[in-house]
Amino acid sequence: MSFLSGKRILLGITAGIAAYKTASLVRLFIKCGAEVKVVMTPSAKDFITPLTLSTLSKNPVYSSFTSEEDENEVWNNHVELGLWADFFVIAPTTANTLAKMANGICDNLLMATYLSAKCPIYFAPAMDLDMYKHESTKTSIERLQEFGNILIPPGTGELASGLVGEGRMAEPEEIVEFIENSISSNLALNGITVLITAGPTYEAIDPVRFIGNHSSGKMGYAIAEAALKFGARVILVSGPTSESLSHKNLTIVDVMGAEEMYQNVHKYFGESDIAILSAAVADYRPKTVSKQKIKKQDSTFSIELVKTKDILASLGEIKKEKFLVGFALETENELYNAKKKLANKNLDLIVLNSLNDDGAGFGTLTNKVTFITAQGDVFEEGLKSKMEVAEDLIKLIVTSYVI
Ligand code: CTP
Repeated sequence: MSFLSGKRILLGITAGIAAYKTASLVRLFIKCGAEVKVVMTPSAKDFITPLTLSTLSKNPVYSSFTSEEDENEVWNNHVELGLWADFFVIAPTTANTLAKMANGICDNLLMATYLSAKCPIYFAPAMDLDMYKHESTKTSIERLQEFGNILIPPGTGELASGLVGEGRMAEPEEIVEFIENSISSNLALNGITVLITAGPTYEAIDPVRFIGNHSSGKMGYAIAEAALKFGARVILVSGPTSESLSHKNLTIVDVMGAEEMYQNVHKYFGESDIAILSAAVADYRPKTVSKQKIKKQDSTFSIELVKTKDILASLGEIKKEKFLVGFALETENELYNAKKKLANKNLDLIVLNSLNDDGAGFGTLTNKVTFITAQGDVFEEGLKSKMEVAEDLIKLIVTSYVI
């Protein structure tokens, strides 16, 4: 999962030799889960063909105000293009385009789109070192930054002229990393560590058998994904599940039983600001675990069970300023029981799940929850996807704890 996942990226290409690298850049954006459209200056077509870029982006490529190849001469609406984009990335940006951007010169579709765009604009200059050092280039870059545009600094190395110095466009991988870091540093949970538990626990009976439950882990993984989207660093302590997630800000700690989950949650609680315990932890485990597979004998068979440690309650005792969220799965006197749990376990927020609602509960893609805060606010939500519920939860935490 990337910060660019689901985002609409408009890539502006101007006429520099580094334009050949934009084929890789489009591929990388697509790999991140972004939708990509390309607008290029007419001369940029000398460096890379629109066909290459439209094939990779799976969208038409725009370079003039009308599509000449279309017999109906469709007008390419620069205002719509500018408004469509979540991010406008101009790479490479030549000295010529930098100067036009700095002065509002609007003599091609890319420039008209630039002047119409309301989204964050990134620009990655690329030119020969003396052009880059020139006072007029420096002035253009400074003006663009004053306008709020974001510079993706060029690298140093061998240039197309054969000279060595500053002016080389940042590599496509560096551009993607730069934009991702810039997005995450502006997000609400930037600098915040969120500890999450997810999935069931398996309590061993013998080497081949266990006591488990039907939790799929979907809710906990959705919460982890939502926290990552908001810029958090996430530590996900996960019971056995078929869910998967990867992100540079995510650490997954796989555990099996309640005791192992308890140990790992306490190991990472100190470095966390927020803890969200959504795992369906077994309340009891077999008192002894047989070393050998238990053979069948009598017609009945009993296992002595002992209580597991209540991880959530144990965090409530030591939490201090940290924000602690628990889940409650109730079948009767739901609101009353959830409020009692919130108070008894010293929580800041509890998410009440009701098994009485269709579409809510184990294994489903949807959930119907009620959020109850320590201040006594009750937010009853409708049936939503687990991802929407996760985003609602994170937004509520952001508004009640972070800001
Ligand atoms: N929980 C936990 N450790 C346990 C049991 C539960 O951390 N050993 C956490 C769950 O992750 C959840 C919350 O406690 O956030 C509520 O779990 P719930 O299923 O409602 O059960 P209990 O609190 O154990 O209470 P009861 O079974 O009596 O309803």
